[in-house]
Amino acid sequence: MTAVPHAYVEDLHRHVGQVVTVKGWLYNKRSSGKLHFLQLRDGTGVVQCVCFKGNFGEELFKQLDTLPQESALTITGSVKAEARAVGGHEIDAQSATIVSVAQADYPITPKEHGTGFLMEHRHLWLRSRKQHAILRIRARVQKAIRDFFDDRGFVCMDAPIFTPSACEGTTTLFPVEYFDETAFLTQSGQLYAEANAMAFGKTYCFGPTFRAEKSKTRRHLTEFWMVEPEVAYLELDGLLELIEQFLSYVVQCVVKDRRPELVVLERDIAKLEKIVPPFPRLSYSDAVDVLKGAGHAFEWGGDFGAPDETLISEKFDKPVLVHRYPAAVKAFYMKRDPQDPRVALCVDCLAPEGYGEIIGGSQRADDIQFLEEQIALHKLPMEAFKWYLDLRRYGSVPHSGFGLGLERTTAWICGTHHVRECIAFPRMLEKITP
Ligand code: 4AD
Ligand code: MG
Repeated sequence: MTAVPHAYVEDLHRHVGQVVTVKGWLYNKRSSGKLHFLQLRDGTGVVQCVCFKGNFGEELFKQLDTLPQESALTITGSVKAEARAVGGHEIDAQSATIVSVAQADYPITPKEHGTGFLMEHRHLWLRSRKQHAILRIRARVQKAIRDFFDDRGFVCMDAPIFTPSACEGTTTLFPVEYFDETAFLTQSGQLYAEANAMAFGKTYCFGPTFRAEKSKTRRHLTEFWMVEPEVAYLELDGLLELIEQFLSYVVQCVVKDRRPELVVLERDIAKLEKIVPPFPRLSYSDAVDVLKGAGHAFEWGGDFGAPDETLISEKFDKPVLVHRYPAAVKAFYMKRDPQDPRVALCVDCLAPEGYGEIIGGSQRADDIQFLEEQIALHKLPMEAFKWYLDLRRYGSVPHSGFGLGLERTTAWICGTHHVRECIAFPRMLEKITP
């Protein structure tokens, strides 16, 4: 007798007409006397297994009827194409093995729960369809990010997590004891990526970054993942092109490979299909005019808040590249525009549909004297930047890079209101468990 192969639900289309075993957990069920319809989820999808009393012993059939939600079981049966079923397939069950009977009080039931309750049960909530779909999409975004850069000759060089100083301002640093010194959790790998770019030409880092954000908004986490490419000899115009190529690639990978998940999330896929180059470009000054034109009282010189970003991005159905912000509202390392030294050669990419800034980037200052002044002006410890200034001492070249936040990008692609659902175990102000 040949062994019955284990099949994952997402692969059932390759097994139509064959007998396979699916291994998972009971998601839902209904019964009609001689038939049980068990919905089994296995991490890749959900499949309905039709259990006919005649195929099972009396006792097992009865046990299946009372099996609590999330009990673990394996089911063997033949795979049928069934257009009306979720996922398009059904299993005509021949046998079942109960692996473990769940306690009958599974906290997450089909009824509506509040987000607070669900977040406390995040370790279980991950099993629910929408959460599962969001996190599968996140993983696809992550792979697309790596593929994009790896396939174009970027060298992946991860940056340290313990750092001696700020990259993005001193107000959001998390201090940690580091033997008899104070270190900080990294806010951005950028400064290290710049060193790597001078060694490898094209490079990126991709890892967790930390910001002691006291803001409770739908866009802020204290721990989030950021990918940061950095390229030697790249200037702002080239950076804008890199951003639109990159972001379009990522979105189209999800559209191609995660359609069922987007459907679960009721995402308007047509909106994502439109995300192809070129993206609209708008200078900060023009963006200010857009705000004023819409009746907003906004003064040139301030940073955009979330409502401003929403208003600007609503004008477009693609991400918009807003460039040349006032240098005063941006980080110390940005190069000034030689045409207008009030502004930095920088770009923020604002996602459509009110998702706000998902990318921040710039051309970097390449002049050592200017950088020294900026470090002093921003009251940063010069000593900690000695190594960084070496990059300008030894073969300084124009170079540029950006950072894309994984959770904000995933939230936009999924159409998820809050970034907290776009990471398995979110860390926020007042939230560090589970
Ligand atoms: O604009 P930011 O602060 O840029 C940097 O950190 C640069 N050093 C990047 C670079 O040029 N290499 O952050 C970049 C992106 C934002 O656009 C946003 O998507 C995300 O990181 N981000 C956050 N995501 C979630 N929660 C937070 N608190 C975030 N802060 C920034
Ligand atoms: Mg930013």
